[in-house]
Amino acid sequence: MPEPLAAPFPADGSALMLRLDALAAFSEVAGQLTRRYLSPAHLAASAQVARWMGEAGMRVHTDALFSVFGRYEGQAANAPAIMLGSHLDTVLDAGRYDGALGVLAAIAVVAELARRGQRLKHAVEVAAFGEEEGSRFPTHILTSSALIGAVKAELLDRRDAAGVSVREALSAAGGNADDYLSCARKPGEIAAYLELHIEQGPVLEKHNLALGAVTAINGSKRLSVTVSGVAGHAGTVPMPERRDALMAASDMLLAIERLAASEPGLLATVGQITALPGAQNVIPGKVRFTIDMRSPSDAVRDRAHAALLAALQQIARTRGVGCEADTYQSNPATPLAGRVIDTVCAAIAACGQAVLRLPSGAGHDAGIMARQCPAGMIFLRCKHGISHNPAESISSEDAELGLRALLEATLRLDRELARMP
Ligand code: HGY
Ligand code: MN
Ligand code: MN
Repeated sequence: MPEPLAAPFPADGSALMLRLDALAAFSEVAGQLTRRYLSPAHLAASAQVARWMGEAGMRVHTDALFSVFGRYEGQAANAPAIMLGSHLDTVLDAGRYDGALGVLAAIAVVAELARRGQRLKHAVEVAAFGEEEGSRFPTHILTSSALIGAVKAELLDRRDAAGVSVREALSAAGGNADDYLSCARKPGEIAAYLELHIEQGPVLEKHNLALGAVTAINGSKRLSVTVSGVAGHAGTVPMPERRDALMAASDMLLAIERLAASEPGLLATVGQITALPGAQNVIPGKVRFTIDMRSPSDAVRDRAHAALLAALQQIARTRGVGCEADTYQSNPATPLAGRVIDTVCAAIAACGQAVLRLPSGAGHDAGIMARQCPAGMIFLRCKHGISHNPAESISSEDAELGLRALLEATLRLDRELARMP
């Protein structure tokens, strides 16, 4: 029988839903939610979140890569912090809960502590990370990586589709990329990290549960592939003489799908593809596409990665085209901290909910933070598991349960970490 309900926390799911709707208005594209890193929409959303952090009683600062942090001091000054939060950037034509839920729920938790006049043994920090999705630059989870000191300078030279580098975008926003090392926090400054996030999958809904305790985060490999054939006239080059980069890439895409389907738990997605020069009467001479490969097992993903590279080269030889595959990012599968998972389970039970432990297929900032401090996640059910899609949806009742579980887990972590740092 779950423990009695936690002390009533006038968690207000409907107020949180209204704020999520308000934040969703900060978009680069009218009629949809697209908020890419360092876009005017991202910077305006960050300024709004900074105001909400200030209203909640936090001291606010923006770091050199434009992540925003609010700090609510503990009983003693400069105490290590329990960090709550998530990311503010979105994918293209996104849902409004991925990332934003974790940031706004964290602010609401601190506002409740401030309302109660309650100071914990730890400070509480709220992180609104600027770049997690990689939807503008090929730099997924850049800003939480900067916080743990894991960013290499070359990342700042990566460019978006318009040819703008991270460095140039930072400068245009009034920042200085050369200051990126100042984002790094000293080990021990953050005692633990806890992220509330929508599940982005169907498991909680299938189990008729609102909340889940995340045990691990899938690893991923990200590649950009360039296929080089020969451009030509659509009306004159006989089929057998063509070195059509797009037809060759089509063989490669189907080979990728076959490979992923052959291995349980392995996922592969081609999310972006461009055929050049892109005229309807020109045989494509060059094609660029991306591959996103995931698996809970590093060994499975590494084996599949090797098989994938071999398959691409084999097709290129058969088709008489060139093929360059750049594996520009590789993140290991990351187990989350047992003591944080246990605390999350106890918090979920204290909210009167049955407890389910589950892994995350999606990547998260928690997967990076786990390299520096004990990290955990609370999953919230989302309708039909839909995400990275404007149809992403949560209920106000579940939002309220997420708020209560996040507060309960924060209070329990505070006691647990003070008892045994
Ligand atoms: O791609 C991911 O898993 C995350 O949503 N950025
Ligand atoms: Mn996310
Ligand atoms: Mn996402």
